[in-house]
Amino acid sequence: MKLKPEFIERMRILLGEDYKNFEQTLEKRYLNSVRCNTLKISPLDLKNRLERKWKMKLLSKKFSEILIVNQKIQPGEIGNSLEYSLGYYYVQEVSSMMPALVLNPKEDENVLDLAASPGSKTTQIAAIMKNKGNLIANDVSLGRIRILSTNLQRCGVTNTIVTQHEGSNLCNKLNKLNFKFDKILLDAPCSGEGTLRTNPKTCLMFNKNLIKKMSNIQKSLAQSALKVLKVGGEMVYSTCTYGPEENEAVVSYLLENFPVEVLDVKIPLNIRGGIMEWQGKKFTKGIEKCARIYPQDNNTEGFFIARLKKIGEF
Ligand SMILES: C[S@@+](CC[C@H](N)C(=O)[O-])C[C@H]1O[C@@H](n2cnc3c(N)ncnc32)[C@H](O)[C@@H]1O
Repeated sequence: MKLKPEFIERMRILLGEDYKNFEQTLEKRYLNSVRCNTLKISPLDLKNRLERKWKMKLLSKKFSEILIVNQKIQPGEIGNSLEYSLGYYYVQEVSSMMPALVLNPKEDENVLDLAASPGSKTTQIAAIMKNKGNLIANDVSLGRIRILSTNLQRCGVTNTIVTQHEGSNLCNKLNKLNFKFDKILLDAPCSGEGTLRTNPKTCLMFNKNLIKKMSNIQKSLAQSALKVLKVGGEMVYSTCTYGPEENEAVVSYLLENFPVEVLDVKIPLNIRGGIMEWQGKKFTKGIEKCARIYPQDNNTEGFFIARLKKIGEF
């Protein structure tokens, strides 16, 4: 994989001695994984069915819906089975399953998934909620909403309303109606550096201007989302990228300007804490509770997750 020198330089600063390990892991075969859609089948029944085709194993006993396809497979093979068409599983990278686990939505809650397409996390949230409560899945892109809707249908999701709005506009409209959510997922649009293994072309897109632009969009979406979160409610902010401008800097901005606090993130993967300083800018206390997921720590893609609690009105 040909990485841009500027990206390498930034990752070296982030990882120090561990950079070599990171770069070597990018060349290795990553974990192929699927998430059992518990709205349609139990993890055990799915595992038994899929074992007729592939060698399967669990990531952890506690999270039996996360299944690893433990052998080499052809590109596209996992998304081309009868069980896939029946909506028995969603093809989803393991680290991408973590934000919805952290969100931990309950069956009677009002939940907003602000940037939802193509719906890997919406379908996961709906399954955790057992198709109960209310879930709004929003995205700005009509093309991507079509894919989201197909996925919701395939997975038998019935507790979800799909909306097409620019995220901040939607939150402002809902705020005027005084509509508030118990939980919000902001799986933000980002520069995608963490998806280099599944989508190597991402490295061609890398540039500093994109990172800056994304950071501004993320701050705007996040602060709008906080307006429609109940006091005591939780928002999970996640990205699939490494740049602190899109991660710790966004969360630090929220901590400095709004009544929120960062809560611990507990997931079945090895994580590292948020970094406290980047290019001369010191981040606010609490940032260390954010989670960085690196490929070399779990043989996955990269992710960043912050769990925020709203502690007052603004
Ligand atoms: C990282 S992807 C979301 C992936 C999705 N959560 C999933 O797990 O399948 C980010 C999404 O944000 C959407 N997006 C970009 N800008 C947006 C905005 N201003 N408001 C709402 N959605 C936006 C993109 O269309 C894209 O689908």
